[in-house]
Amino acid sequence: MYLLYTFLVLLSLSKGFNSDCPRRCSCDSAQWVQCYRLTEVPSGIPATTKRLYISHSKIQHLQLSNFTRMLALEEFILLASGTESVENDTFKTLSTLKTLELWKNKLRQVPSTLPASLEVLKLNDNSIYILHESDFEGLKELKILELKNNLISSLSPSTLSSLVSLQSLMLDDNNIESITGPLTLPHLTRMSMENNKLHLIPPSFFASLQSLKHLSFSGNFLTKIPNNLPKSLLSLKMERNQLKVVRFRDMKHLENLSHLYLSKNSLSSIDGVQLLDNLTTLELSQNQLQTLPLRLPSRLQKLDISNNLIQRVTAQDFQDLRDLKHLFLDNNIVSVFEAGALQRCSQLSNLALERNLLLSIPLRLPGTLARLDLKGNAIQDIAERELKDLKQLQVLNLRNNKISALDLKALEGLPRLRHLYLDGNPWNCTCSLLRAREVLKAKGTDVRGGQCAAPAERQGESWMSSKKIMRHCEHHLLLTEKSKETKKKPKPEEPSSIRVSMDDDYYDYELD
Ligand SMILES: *[C@@H]1O[C@H](CO)[C@@H](O)[C@H](O)[C@H]1NC(C)=O
Ligand SMILES: *[C@@H]1O[C@H](CO)[C@@H](O)[C@H](O)[C@H]1NC(C)=O
Ligand SMILES: *[C@@H]1O[C@H](CO)[C@@H](O)[C@H](O)[C@H]1NC(C)=O
Ligand SMILES: *[C@@H]1O[C@H](CO)[C@@H](O)[C@H](O)[C@H]1NC(C)=O
Ligand SMILES: *[C@@H]1O[C@H](CO)[C@@H](O)[C@H](O)[C@H]1NC(C)=O
Repeated sequence: MYLLYTFLVLLSLSKGFNSDCPRRCSCDSAQWVQCYRLTEVPSGIPATTKRLYISHSKIQHLQLSNFTRMLALEEFILLASGTESVENDTFKTLSTLKTLELWKNKLRQVPSTLPASLEVLKLNDNSIYILHESDFEGLKELKILELKNNLISSLSPSTLSSLVSLQSLMLDDNNIESITGPLTLPHLTRMSMENNKLHLIPPSFFASLQSLKHLSFSGNFLTKIPNNLPKSLLSLKMERNQLKVVRFRDMKHLENLSHLYLSKNSLSSIDGVQLLDNLTTLELSQNQLQTLPLRLPSRLQKLDISNNLIQRVTAQDFQDLRDLKHLFLDNNIVSVFEAGALQRCSQLSNLALERNLLLSIPLRLPGTLARLDLKGNAIQDIAERELKDLKQLQVLNLRNNKISALDLKALEGLPRLRHLYLDGNPWNCTCSLLRAREVLKAKGTDVRGGQCAAPAERQGESWMSSKKIMRHCEHHLLLTEKSKETKKKPKPEEPSSIRVSMDDDYYDYELD
């Protein structure tokens, strides 16, 4: 009885919703139709459909006759369907069409005579190799044009001259070797041409791009930052090019530039970057810098200068950087780090110094640090005076150094420490090291201890969990507990909860 009832309800539901809906499609009350695994655009699509989404199908060719009934269509999305061609004028009469997305197909050309109502056109991941003068004619409402990952080799301003409303232009991953200017797109705020083959940007290129805010030329063959960049710019990406020098005097007019990305170039020095007064993010990773920039912009919040050849960090380098929060100096050859060099950086929370040549933990680091990464240096010990001010420290990474003993006092002064990485050091597993182990456990710090290097009979033992060492030191521990007359009873030893195989680096930047 119940089953029959359910069956009837289901039947009436499916009728109510799907009376008009073609096979392999689902149609909902908002006039949205979604279809998968088709071999042609179905004939039975309701004429009132506003949004038609087809993906993972095999529809080699689109025809005018496929769309003649769809007079209310606002969005057509055809994804991953192997479409190679579109009959002339197929979309011409769809006067309400606002969004056309033909991603991941095999188109070689932009479909002809697109309707003037179009606001979004995305043709990413096709094989379009040429843009014709007429391709975008009359598209006065178009705001977003995406042609990423095609085979386009040149761009001329006349192709885009109709697009008076265009706000975003994405041409990443093509073969563009040359562009000419001026590009007249008065409302363009975002342009990206990453991973092309540009050697040169003509000086006139930006003359009529007075609204441009975000520009990326990363992944080209540029040897200089283009001249005459628009004053409106907020971010500029020039990573993975062939820059040897940057003339910041030519960029002085970029008064609102806040993000500058110059990683993976061939820069051997940076002079004059302080002229970019409002810069908050500067990325210079993977260049050939031997010294820190002489002066840095005073509003900087993030500086990434990792993977260079920097040897020294001095107090002068960072004296004005009161807003600095993240400093990445890892993978350099820093051997000299002046005491107090970062003391004026009273917001610094993240300091990456891993893989340098430091022999000790730098003195007088700012008390605001939450993460300090010193792995892969040549640090031999941990002293109380180095760590005593770091009341906010949550993550301390000292893995792969040359530390053999722990100063208990140094660690007791870190009230917020949650993760401590000590493995990869040549630990001398004395009973006093074991005492440090008990204190860390009691604090609830997650510790990666690593293995004993000495004495000989304990080599290879894991000092944070070895029961053998524990038994050996029991007597010793008990004596010290008694002599200190501690108020708390010593806790019974809990089984070690250290997850030995988890990748700790995950924690380094994921903490709040
Ligand atoms: C849609 O186009 C295909 C060719 O891709 C054609 O075979 C089919 O008949 C067309 N359907 C309609 C309804 O026009
Ligand atoms: C489609 O249009 C282009 C130019 O707009 C024209 O060269 C071509 O001959 C047309 N194709 C057909 C089949 O009409
Ligand atoms: C810089 O930003 C300010 C504040 O948003 C704005 O008023 C000013 O017009 C911008 N300058 C330029 C050149 O765009
Ligand atoms: C920094 O930005 C502010 C407002 O966003 C602006 O008034 C100031 O002129 C800018 N500084 C420089 C040096 O351009
Ligand atoms: C380990 O520590 C003990 C006791 O402090 C000391 O005698 C011994 O020399 C140390 N061993 C090594 C290899 O440093």
